[in-house]
Amino acid sequence: MTGPEFGALRSDDDQWDIVSSVGYTALLVAGWRALHAVGPQPLVRDEYARSFVTASADPYLTGLLASPATSADQTAFPRLYGVQTRFFDDFFRSAAEAGVQQAVIVAAGLDSRTYRLDWPAGTTVFEIDLPKVLEFKAQVLARHGAEPKAHRAEVAADLRTDWPTPLKAAGFDPRQPSAWSVEGLLMYLNGDAQNLLFARIDELSAPGSRVAVGALGTRLDHQQLAALEAAHPGVNLFGEVDFSALSYDDKTDPAQWLAARGWAVEPVRSTLELQAGYGMTPPDVDVKVDSVMHSQYITATKAGA
Ligand SMILES: C[S@@+](CC[C@H](N)C(=O)[O-])C[C@H]1O[C@@H](n2cnc3c(N)ncnc32)[C@H](O)[C@@H]1O
Repeated sequence: MTGPEFGALRSDDDQWDIVSSVGYTALLVAGWRALHAVGPQPLVRDEYARSFVTASADPYLTGLLASPATSADQTAFPRLYGVQTRFFDDFFRSAAEAGVQQAVIVAAGLDSRTYRLDWPAGTTVFEIDLPKVLEFKAQVLARHGAEPKAHRAEVAADLRTDWPTPLKAAGFDPRQPSAWSVEGLLMYLNGDAQNLLFARIDELSAPGSRVAVGALGTRLDHQQLAALEAAHPGVNLFGEVDFSALSYDDKTDPAQWLAARGWAVEPVRSTLELQAGYGMTPPDVDVKVDSVMHSQYITATKAGA
């Protein structure tokens, strides 16, 4: 495999694989999850995350995993990604407990929830991402003999195209309630693509459906981030990823969008509030990171159940 290819600006129909452009961000966050799993008191242990890094042979992430750092600065992103992973795990557990049997992981990347969580019998987990990303994931998991803990349906599609058709072809039933995760995705969609994504989720969601939306960086100020990295160089675990070349800004707030369409939206939380809820006291550096990244975690339920 070649190394990550960055630098080119986004186009609205660009493509990528696991070691290029937006696809590499899936590998990067898998690397953070792998580092979180070997860090102190992990909130979640994703045992598959390391396998993806190893299979990619990516020198940057392989190097980080070979000798994991321990300072608060260097563990900030793995710690915060662990908090995020736990938030989405809890979301799916709670939807499953409420009897929702269709889970849709939008932009699944190398998320291994289908293999990690104890899904109730009868659950189908739909994983949507680009074909090359899902192919890499399937190959690595097959090599490790990993078995999904629910019925798993792959939907290899670009979210900027007509993905509801392959989703329904894969067995998704819009008359039944569903639980959707939109994790670490929105920054890679332009405003129109984001609105279309939520309009389609709304259309496909029967009453009682749930959605969780969140990312460490929802309003990333790139200049402030550079200043933070200058003061705390250890924080930068992005390798060669230049988020400003991959992401789009200036979009509708998803919580407001959902509330305006009749979804009951719970109070929006930041990563710091999630940490407090998990009994953690965020180190000072986490507070600084969040003041630059503006994390947001949203859960909402569609009315009328
Ligand atoms: C930062 S990764 C997050 C992956 C996963 N949700 C997680 O948290 O581990 C972003 C993912 O979004 C996917 N993605 C971004 N834009 C997409 C699009 N237009 N269509 C399909 N997938 C997309 C990428 O391929 C990548 O897997």
